[in-house]
Amino acid sequence: MKEKQTRSEKETINLGFQFGNLLEPGAVVLLKGDLASGKTTFTKGIAQALKITQTINSPSYTIMKSYKSSNQDFYHFDFYRLTEEGMDFDFEDYINSSAITVIEWPFNVESLLPKEYILIEIEILEENERKFKFTAVGNKFKKVIKYIWKDYF
Ligand SMILES: Nc1ncnc2c1ncn2[C@@H]1O[C@H](COP(=O)(O)OP(=O)(O)O)[C@@H](O)[C@H]1O
Ligand SMILES: [Mg+2]
Repeated sequence: MKEKQTRSEKETINLGFQFGNLLEPGAVVLLKGDLASGKTTFTKGIAQALKITQTINSPSYTIMKSYKSSNQDFYHFDFYRLTEEGMDFDFEDYINSSAITVIEWPFNVESLLPKEYILIEIEILEENERKFKFTAVGNKFKKVIKYIWKDYF
């Protein structure tokens, strides 16, 4: 588990960018944190790292938004308004693909989550300060966590 703090929206986008550069196809990233903790902001940085040029905004009302750059599919889920009973699509097909998947409010569909993922817990410290806690669940993503806070991060 590793931690990092940011002091502005811009720093969070930058953190997401640095993190996004570590991801390989098939990565599943769960973002846990209260409303306005910075989940969507962090996701914008990930998308920049994947060279996605479309604007990333919250998929709260649509549940999922799908993006594509030249060589990478990117799925952005937000389960804020959903329960497992309300799932009427094949979530597994999305997360078992070679896309990179980011999920806000993942524990609203806890039983459907894969066994291995990167969990990022975001805490609001002050109005503009956020703490990010990175954990690899399962072996598959241990390497990503290891690379966080090497010199270039
Ligand atoms: N350090 C920070 N990192 C991210 N967002 C911040 C930070 N400080 C203040 N904010 C503000 O918090 C809000 C985060 O919104 P958003 O990313 O949509 O949150 P979430 O998706 O978790 O609901 C934005 O209004 C942003 O300007
Ligand atoms: Mg959001």
